[in-house]
Amino acid sequence: MKRPTQQAHEIVSGVVKEGETGVDATAGNGHDSLFLAGLVGESGRVVAFDVQEAAIESTRRRLEDAGVAGCIDLWCESHIRMAERVEPGVGAVMFNLGYLPGGDHARITRTDETLRALEVAVGLLRTSGILTVVCYPGHPGGDEEAAAVKAWVEARGGQVFPQARKGAPFLVVWERRL
Ligand SMILES: C[S@@+](CC[C@H](N)C(=O)[O-])C[C@H]1O[C@@H](n2cnc3c(N)ncnc32)[C@H](O)[C@@H]1O
Repeated sequence: MKRPTQQAHEIVSGVVKEGETGVDATAGNGHDSLFLAGLVGESGRVVAFDVQEAAIESTRRRLEDAGVAGCIDLWCESHIRMAERVEPGVGAVMFNLGYLPGGDHARITRTDETLRALEVAVGLLRTSGILTVVCYPGHPGGDEEAAAVKAWVEARGGQVFPQARKGAPFLVVWERRL
């Protein structure tokens, strides 16, 4: 079975076009930002958020090393402020919940903020734009958050991808139809 991050990349690559904007709501070590940068190209923008300076620096370095840092706007602040930094009409907003690998495991994403940010993200997507959320039920608090995100997306007619096994990470996807 493919990893949820890989599933998310496959779906987003079929949606985001060169020249548009993609949002990385949880920059972490910058893998999703780099991926989005490859899709939007030099004429597009990637806007990335993280509450940890270490994550912002790690993301900046990853894009610099790849020679694509010119397309990214990095914000060291919560993704609940997305609408203040991003113009509506984006192709994709990607969330990868949980903690920063190799960083402070206490700075996990939190259910209440995540749900608020998902609502904000919905309002920023263009028609046929896509929201992806990789959920991690395996750490304290992650279980509750993953269940809340699953319920949120099911209530909106989105898709929940199957887990490889109980407790494994999984992907949820929501597409803006109108
Ligand atoms: C699993 S990591 C993201 C991995 C990243 N997408 C990558 O490709 O490397 C989750 C990140 O969410 C960040 N985070 C936690 N709460 C946040 C919030 N309210 N707003 C934005 N980022 C947050 C954490 O600091 C952590 O770096």
